[in-house]
Amino acid sequence: MRIFIDSADIEEIKKVKEYGLLDGVTTNPSLIKNAVRKLKEKGRKLDVESYIKYIFRVVGKKVPVSLEVVGQDYDEMIREGFMLWKKFKSCGNVYVKIPIDPCIEGKCNRKMDGIRAIKELSRRKVRVNCTLIFTPEQALLAAMAGANFVSPFVAREEDYIKKIKRKDNGIKSGIDLVAQIREIFNKQKVKNCEILAASVRDVRHFREVTLAGADIATMPLSVIEQLVKHYKTREGMKRFTEDIVPEYAKLVGYKKQ
Ligand code: G3P
Repeated sequence: MRIFIDSADIEEIKKVKEYGLLDGVTTNPSLIKNAVRKLKEKGRKLDVESYIKYIFRVVGKKVPVSLEVVGQDYDEMIREGFMLWKKFKSCGNVYVKIPIDPCIEGKCNRKMDGIRAIKELSRRKVRVNCTLIFTPEQALLAAMAGANFVSPFVAREEDYIKKIKRKDNGIKSGIDLVAQIREIFNKQKVKNCEILAASVRDVRHFREVTLAGADIATMPLSVIEQLVKHYKTREGMKRFTEDIVPEYAKLVGYKKQ
């Protein structure tokens, strides 16, 4: 299992790096919006390109950083995808995020544009993270088109299933979505594409996507930090600390913290 931080906030990214847990970074337009808002609140002058370059400098050359296109048709996604790739590939390990289906409303003749864009970008050796995955079929098609990562949205699938009060076309939960993708990838011997569980909002999600066979989980900083927390661990620490005898403190050179 690898851990990515789902954030465009440089301070948060730095923290996960300090923890020694930073295997990657994922961003999306909403996360960029949050980071931009925070910088503006601090009165900082903003240049998004330099800011993203700064992220690459902080994470280092090898760590994957996903940047999403915002266009909603093939030509625009290709244009943006290449632009992001060209602009940042010398800075580090760029992944271009392409939605599996860029349509926003029901009737739309661009629903296959995501697949077409993945195919073209990967043909030209651009690494792709296919996002907004809610079915195993979407994941399989993205992998077949050449995506390097597929991002199933765990909590959003869970929210949706709660809302419709039934399975989502045979999918029982967000975790079941990841498990089904894993099973299909194994059975179909998909080797070029990793499962990057996204929309992982709590510790249980993390544990269950790990059990379901995700290769990577991307999470906000708060969830990453929650992974080490347990009431009994704290209670145990309190008791051990109360039991430190001066002789042992002297041996280890302990000073009260
Ligand atoms: O990477 C996708 C992720 O940011 C979505 O998470 O919590 O907004 O569903 P969430």
